[in-house]
Amino acid sequence: MKTKLPPARKARPATKSTAAPKPRRMLIDGEWLYANSGETFSTYNPATGEVICEVAAGGSVDVDRAVKAARAAFESGPWRKMTASERGRILWRLADLLEKNLEEFAVLESLDNGKPLAVARAADVPLAIDLFRYMAGWTTKIHGSTFPISVPYAPGAQFFAYTQREPIGVVGQIIPWNFPLLMAAWKLGPALATGCTVVLKPAEQTPLTALRLGELIIEAGFPPGVVNIVTGLGETAGAALAAHPGIDKIAFTGSTEVGKLIVQAASRDLKKVSLELGGKSPNLVLEDADLDIAIPGAASAIYFNHGQCCCAGSRLYVHKKHFDKVVEGVAAAAKKIKVGPGHEPETEMGPLVSEEQLNRVMGFLQAGQDEGAKSLAGGARVGKKGYFVQPTLLVNTKPGMKVMEEEIFGPVVCAVPFSSVEEVVSHANNNVYGLASAVWTKDVSKAHRIASQLRAGTVWVNCYNIFDAAMPFGGYKQSGWGREMGAEALELYTETKAVCIRL
Ligand code: NAI
Ligand code: MG
Repeated sequence: MKTKLPPARKARPATKSTAAPKPRRMLIDGEWLYANSGETFSTYNPATGEVICEVAAGGSVDVDRAVKAARAAFESGPWRKMTASERGRILWRLADLLEKNLEEFAVLESLDNGKPLAVARAADVPLAIDLFRYMAGWTTKIHGSTFPISVPYAPGAQFFAYTQREPIGVVGQIIPWNFPLLMAAWKLGPALATGCTVVLKPAEQTPLTALRLGELIIEAGFPPGVVNIVTGLGETAGAALAAHPGIDKIAFTGSTEVGKLIVQAASRDLKKVSLELGGKSPNLVLEDADLDIAIPGAASAIYFNHGQCCCAGSRLYVHKKHFDKVVEGVAAAAKKIKVGPGHEPETEMGPLVSEEQLNRVMGFLQAGQDEGAKSLAGGARVGKKGYFVQPTLLVNTKPGMKVMEEEIFGPVVCAVPFSSVEEVVSHANNNVYGLASAVWTKDVSKAHRIASQLRAGTVWVNCYNIFDAAMPFGGYKQSGWGREMGAEALELYTETKAVCIRL
């Protein structure tokens, strides 16, 4: 847990023979620094519960230093003088460096987060590379417009008016642990493409890939202070960042509970805020669905990344005609999933990220059982070491039950039968969240009609968990504010300025 180390600058160099690995340092103004307090926290291997290493526990002094560095880099550093094309080239170089080091990032991500190495290799790292390249392409295409204006109270006068889009300024970004590198990319990509400067705080459970990315950020040629990476706990470093008056905008991904705290903190000086929060995404298997793709699709909708996805398909609604067949199929798929440490080649599902998440998910399973849900697959912890949970399928789940209403963020799906499209759309929308959703049907017209009725930021049809740097992602209702990725993400990081000239 939290241990106190002497402040970095006063620490004596450790002798070779007795030296414990040195704590990982934070990136502030182009330098690698220990926390001002000297404190560190541990990051764990969730497959064993063992400490991987210590990491600098930044606090308000470190956040303040990072914000000042980002401000100086924004106001007067070489970053502001660079052309859009030069910014794009540096972003592209970062993507190239990430690609060159893909394997190392995949291994580090799997170690720190627990996810299967094969998944980190095939999804997390390539998606991050793609995102940086996509955003590198945008740098030269962020522009305003011209338009005729009439000004009724200035008859005879002539004006020329135009808009330009400017970087919003210094941005604080707080990210979670479920896709540590990819979330860093989703946040950094558009902020850097638009010319902002950043203070990024990774999740305390998974700080390692962000810190390694920091090394590549320097190597790629971002000037000092453009990207600062402050590691630390949410309640200290995160809260200090959200409340800092020197920040123009705060971007957050994580729990809805903390999202609300971010809004409160930001309201003091009316910082701009974007939020990507929880979900309880409905997955609809219609009467005419192709069950050969819907059944494995429903299983991977919830079990991918161990259910630790804000968009996990955690409410599975199946037409009553196919209910038994689909739940049997998903239960069989759940039982076949090979649960184990991320680095083992045959592993299909790793551990949950932390003991806290394990306890949270086990608490939900207990609540489900207490309220009358029945598990057709899973329902228990795997082993005593590490934070493994069986892929679980619950039936007899009804609206109002805790497992049906709240985000579990684990490999647990609730299956519910329905009889009509009207009924299922109303159930699907009857939740405080609105992040993602899916429909399985062979009828294209029906797919379009239902897609327009679902109150969710994403509707997948005959697929699930499909992400692309060009496709905006974000939530309706309590799932958040704003959209990440795509052209929409640029709007989170720009201000529009209107310029009006009397000729
Ligand atoms: P969390 O919301 O506490 O953590 C996410 C990030 O926020 C981390 O970087 C953390 O250090 C930071 N943070 C925590 N408290 C803060 C505060 N007071 N001020 C500023 N920053 C703060 O999420 P946690 O506790 O790790 O997970 C709890 C639940 O949150 C999960 O079970 C899941 O339901 C949800 N969650 C949703 C995610 C998503 O992608 N939407 C990602 C992670 C968690
Ligand atoms: Mg960890």
